[in-house]
Amino acid sequence: MDKIVIEGGRPLKGSVKISGAKNAALPAIAASLLTGGWHRLKRIPQLRDINTIKSIMSKFGTVFREENDILEINSDNLTSFEAPYELVKTMRASILLLGPLLARYGKAKISLPGGCAIGARPVNLHLKALVAMGADIYLDHGYINAEANRLRGAEIFFDIPTVTGTENIMMAAVTAKGKTVLRNSANEPEVLDLADTLRAMGADIEGDGTDTIVIEGVNDLKPCEHSVIPDRIEAGTFMIGAAITRGNIKIEGCLPGHLTSLIEKLKLAGAKIDLADESITIQGPDLIESVDVMTMPYPGFPTDLQAQFMALMAVADGWSIIRETIFENRFIHVSELRRMGADIEINGSQALIKGKERLFSAPVMATDLRASASLVLAGLVAKEGRTEVHRIYHLDRGYETIEKKFRGLGASIWREKE
Ligand code: EPU
Repeated sequence: MDKIVIEGGRPLKGSVKISGAKNAALPAIAASLLTGGWHRLKRIPQLRDINTIKSIMSKFGTVFREENDILEINSDNLTSFEAPYELVKTMRASILLLGPLLARYGKAKISLPGGCAIGARPVNLHLKALVAMGADIYLDHGYINAEANRLRGAEIFFDIPTVTGTENIMMAAVTAKGKTVLRNSANEPEVLDLADTLRAMGADIEGDGTDTIVIEGVNDLKPCEHSVIPDRIEAGTFMIGAAITRGNIKIEGCLPGHLTSLIEKLKLAGAKIDLADESITIQGPDLIESVDVMTMPYPGFPTDLQAQFMALMAVADGWSIIRETIFENRFIHVSELRRMGADIEINGSQALIKGKERLFSAPVMATDLRASASLVLAGLVAKEGRTEVHRIYHLDRGYETIEKKFRGLGASIWREKE
């Protein structure tokens, strides 16, 4: 297994190019199951999670061709409809395969994702919606077994706006008989990007970007060509990297409109930020001001940037409060940040952070992707010695060559075998 080693204390400088969004690429790849022919997806990042969804679909019989960040996908000859435990347990987003398999083949067997480090993360809302659309679903030996003749349109109300739930049901609904209305649906940019992919395939979808999505089922879809959106969480992580190291960097190939809540918070923390159509220039402040943050569904502050922002607040001037409202256990990074000298108290869903002048390097590890990213950021600013971030397969799930990108910005960071 590899670890990442960081010698902190260098301000980031230069420019970095953002990769395609993991959480947009995964549903786009799953959506290709909805029809035969060759689909062509662009800006697909090279990540562990992308390899996982490809491995599962290869077991179905899907064929892939790839060159750089272009992925071509063909599901003309599927022979299996089962996503096994061994793969699903490494990536919960495998649940995204349920909607399209059921829509096109009328059957699917997907291992029920268990809890993960950040929370219980049930999929009850996905299943309830599919049942409302006429699916017959039963749980057996840890697997979701689903069958349906042709799904039918339905009125669905999500108790909670769920991102992959909305995506799964959108994919199930595009070829259902009649109209499906999704109320209290998620409107994250990744959901809109999936709607664009599905429209490029011939789907009839309206209202994405609001809390009510209306889908009129169509009889036929066609393969599509689509470029997935840039990864707003990767871009946000580099922005926080510039702020925490008091650096000055340009983040290229991103969509600033997807990062409004973070941009506002970083400005309050004292960063100077210039926005262009597809780039952000950010200069970190000499003195980082403390800022309170509460995670919320989009366009609120993303839970996927909470851990990274906490690393910043750990070296801010004064006290801040970070409240996590999306997942019940997303403070895994706190005990590791404390090992680097951070002063953080947790009280239920709130973290109270007393900013310190400095953090110190230490060996650390985390069992979650974004928590691991926050430890890398803390390592970039930590003094004296080397920070070693262990279990970096979590980072490899969601950040494309993170250490190379930070090295390109002047950081002293590299990967080593354990
Ligand atoms: N929820 C339910 N029942 C359901 C579905 C969700 O109670 O059937 C609850 C969850 O437990 C959570 C809330 O609803 O409390 C919102 O969860 P959501 O379903 O929106 O999360 P997700 O779709 O499983 C996606 C991202 C996550 C990101 C969240 C929130 C993908 C593949 N994953 O997860 O990304 O944190 O939305 O924005 O899109 C990551 O990339 O590191 C990551 C965890």
